[in-house]
Amino acid sequence: MSEIKTVGVVGFGVMGAAIALNAAGAGYNVVYKELNDELVASMFERWVTKPLSKRVAKGKISQADMDQLSGRINGTSLYSGLKDCDLVIEAAIEKMDLKIEVFTELSKACRKDAILVSNTSTFLIEKLMAKVENPSRTAGLHYFFPANINRLVEVIRQKETSDATYAALMEFAQKNRKVAITVKDFPGFAVNPVFIASYVVLDSFYGDNLNAASLESISQEALGLKFGIMWVQNGAGLGTCYHAGVSMAEYLRDNDTGYPAMCDQLKQQFESGQLWDLEGGPITEDQAVRNEVKDRLLGAIFAISTHLIEHQVVSPDDLELGIITSLAWPKGPLALMNELGMTESARLIKVAVAAGDFKLPKKFADNDLTPWELNK
Ligand SMILES: NC(=O)c1ccc[n+]([C@@H]2O[C@H](COP(=O)([O-])OP(=O)(O)OC[C@H]3O[C@@H](n4cnc5c(N)ncnc54)[C@H](O)[C@@H]3O)[C@@H](O)[C@H]2O)c1
Repeated sequence: MSEIKTVGVVGFGVMGAAIALNAAGAGYNVVYKELNDELVASMFERWVTKPLSKRVAKGKISQADMDQLSGRINGTSLYSGLKDCDLVIEAAIEKMDLKIEVFTELSKACRKDAILVSNTSTFLIEKLMAKVENPSRTAGLHYFFPANINRLVEVIRQKETSDATYAALMEFAQKNRKVAITVKDFPGFAVNPVFIASYVVLDSFYGDNLNAASLESISQEALGLKFGIMWVQNGAGLGTCYHAGVSMAEYLRDNDTGYPAMCDQLKQQFESGQLWDLEGGPITEDQAVRNEVKDRLLGAIFAISTHLIEHQVVSPDDLELGIITSLAWPKGPLALMNELGMTESARLIKVAVAAGDFKLPKKFADNDLTPWELNK
């Protein structure tokens, strides 16, 4: 395994292009692969030439900076164009069969010691790498939207990932000025299982008594957020939120963790083509109603967070760091549990269990009310 100097990116869309610009900005040479030569050219225009020219026009960067940055990024429509890469990051569309095929091709076209990673949001890394020769060089590298601004990266170690691969990826993340957390190969990894559960539960209250503005306000109050969970869903796209929620429930609902079932409300809203209407008040001031929603929301967040720790998906400190960095919550879920007290946290988790959202984590089944030990 050689030092990472040249980075390949498969798929130059929203994520791939931002990942490439990030790496080029950190001094790496980047080769991206698109489906055909037309897309190679049009995607470069869309994600590199246009936005960088705008920045030059606004005086944010010089023409020389732009030339240097864009000069480090080259495109290809062939897998053989990636043969000199030390690391290849796959950011093609979220389809399992397609990703497996991409990695089969990369295994043939790239050097046998090149590190191969996926930026998948929902698939297990182990499955995507099933046909890769020497899987010890494979892992996940999960960026968050928008990948040039959001500083979090989850480095996902699958069973086969070697220590050398893991160390090289941690160093790569650091050189890209990212905050990296270490995560086990688990459905959705660490941050998304928490975030997705929070919006599925919140959306399930949408209806005659509770409009989107009220749910937004309750989520802001419960978690101390400037921009609440309904707002973030609008930004991410309700289609993306819906599909991710369905996928998480498929993976985990019958598992020992449990997971909230997809609610009709989010499905209908996404199918209507409208975003959540955050201006369409009035915001409910009925404290009993607000508390009911708040309890279910916090209960779900606390239950999945405890399950993630118990399944050793992520360390307590990395979970906190991941949530604070990627979602801009002022406090991570474990610090929030400590602050509310474990007796109250246990009550909230039992609310989530009674609602069928989650199974009872072992810590609370054992009535262990010791606070979380957090270092950072
Ligand atoms: N958008 C997000 O918020 C987000 C966040 C984290 C992770 N992800 C993951 O990142 C990946 C990419 O998502 P996106 O939003 O950038 O999608 P996108 O549709 O914007 O981009 C995907 C690109 O991949 C190209 N492509 C498809 N098959 C290819 C192939 N065989 N070879 C080369 N290029 C190919 C497409 O032409 C397209 O330009 C997905 O796996 C997604 O789940 C997305």
